[in-house]
Amino acid sequence: MAKIEFSADFDWGTASSGPQSEGSADKPHESLWEYWYAKDPERFYQQVGPKITCDSYHRYKEDVAIMKELGLKSFRTSIQWSRLIKDLETGEPDEKAVAFYNDYINEMIAAGVEPVMNLFHFDTPIALEHEYGGFKNKHVAELFVKFATTAFTLFGDRVKRWITFNEPVAHAKGAYLYDFIYPNEVNTRSYTQANYNILLAHAGSVEAYHKLNLDGEIGIVVDLLPPIPRSQNSGDLLAAEVFDLFTNRIFMDPCVKGEYADQYLELLEKHNCNFEYTSEELELIKNNTVDFIGINYYQPQRVKAPARLPNINDVFMPDWYFDNYEMPNRRMNVHRGWEIYPKTIYDIAMRVKNEYGNIKWYVSENGMGVHDEDRFKDETGMICDDYRIEFIQEHLQWLNKAIQEGSNCQGYHLWTFVDNWSWTNAYKNRYGYVSLDLKTRNRTIKKSGYWIKEVIANNGFEE
Ligand code: NOJ
Repeated sequence: MAKIEFSADFDWGTASSGPQSEGSADKPHESLWEYWYAKDPERFYQQVGPKITCDSYHRYKEDVAIMKELGLKSFRTSIQWSRLIKDLETGEPDEKAVAFYNDYINEMIAAGVEPVMNLFHFDTPIALEHEYGGFKNKHVAELFVKFATTAFTLFGDRVKRWITFNEPVAHAKGAYLYDFIYPNEVNTRSYTQANYNILLAHAGSVEAYHKLNLDGEIGIVVDLLPPIPRSQNSGDLLAAEVFDLFTNRIFMDPCVKGEYADQYLELLEKHNCNFEYTSEELELIKNNTVDFIGINYYQPQRVKAPARLPNINDVFMPDWYFDNYEMPNRRMNVHRGWEIYPKTIYDIAMRVKNEYGNIKWYVSENGMGVHDEDRFKDETGMICDDYRIEFIQEHLQWLNKAIQEGSNCQGYHLWTFVDNWSWTNAYKNRYGYVSLDLKTRNRTIKKSGYWIKEVIANNGFEE
C-alpha cells in the first residue's frame, strides 16, 4: 500500500450555497427560486421548495461546530443578493442580513475554518429578472457590481477568498437556452448575451475588489464538462470543440486569459448570434483576470456529431453541432444516473497547467448525489456511504497524480457539507458529508464525514 499524500497546507474544505442552505427567513427580497416555487411548485421534486432548506440561517453555529469537529480548513457558501441588499438599485444593505453574515463569518473564523464567500449561486432577485430581464440586461451587471462592492466593504477585512459567480454557464443555460430554470427561455442570443453580461459583472467586481486594496484574492467558479469525442473523425472532433467552446472556454478563456477564443466569436458571427459589446468593456475584461479559479467537476460529456442535420430555417442552437452518445459500458453512479469517470479530473488539472498558465486553482465542487440514502443507515443511525468514500478517493488519486506532475491545485472541496436543497431536484439526491433529517433538521455525520476527518488529519490516505 502506498500513501497518497498532499501538502501540509492543502485546503481541505467543502461547499454549499446560501439559497440551498439558509432558508428564506427575514429576507428583504424574493429570489428567482422563491418566486418560481410559489408560482409553479409542480416543477420541484415532491413539491418541496426553498423556504427552510437546512435552516442554516438559524442553525449556522451548529454547522460551524461540525466543520470544526471534522477539521475542515475552509467552507464555501454564498451571500444571497436578495438577502444582503435592501435597495437593489443603490446597493444599500439590510441591517439584519449584515448582522447574520457577520456572525456567520466570525463564527467560522473563530473555529479555524476559512470562510470562502461566493456572490452568486443562481439566485437573481426576482425583481431584477422581471424589471430588466435579469442578466440579459447590462444594467443588472452594474447592480451586481454594487452588491459585490457592498459585500467586499462589509466583510472584506475578514474574508480573504471571494468568488464572483458559481457556474455562470449552468445558470445561463438553464434560464435562457434549455428551459430548466425560470424564466425558461430557449434562445441562443439570450444565452450568449447573458453570459457576456455576467462576465461584465464578474470583471467589474474583480476591478472593484482590487481597487479596495483589501488583503485577499478573488476568482470565479466554473463547471467544466470536458467533452470526450466518440471517435477521432472530423465530425466528432468538431462536435467536441464546439461543445467545449460554448460550455467550458466561454468563461475559462476570458476570466483567465482576458479574451474569448477566436473560434467562439467566429461561430457567433457565422450564426448571427453576436452579443453586444463595446471596446471599453473588452478592456475591462482584459484588465481584470482572476487570481485563482475554482473548478466544479462531476462528470465528462460524451460527444458525437449529430445524427440529423438541422433545419436551416430554425433559429441557431449550439447543439446543431453536437449530440450525446451512449456507451453501454460506461461506469455509472447507479444512485443518480451520472457517469463516474475520475480520470477527467487529472485531464482538467493538466489542461489548467498547459493551457491556462498553470494558474492557481482548486476543486471547488466534486461529489456524488445519492437517492434515498436512508437505506444505508446502520443501527446507530449513521449513513454508511462507502460508495462516496470510494468516489472521493479515486478522484483524489487522479488529482494527486496531476499535482505531482506540477498542476497548481491548492485544495479540494466536496459538494456538499450538510445535504442541501438542490433546486428542482429538492432533496432527491443527497450529496453531503452530513445528513439532514427533513423533519427535525437535525444533522448527523455520515461515514464519509469521519473518513475525511482522518484524511485531513493525515494529509492523505493509504491507497
Ligand atoms: C453544482 C451546483 O453548484 C450546486 O448548486 C448543485 O447543487 C450541485 N451542482 C449538484 O447538482
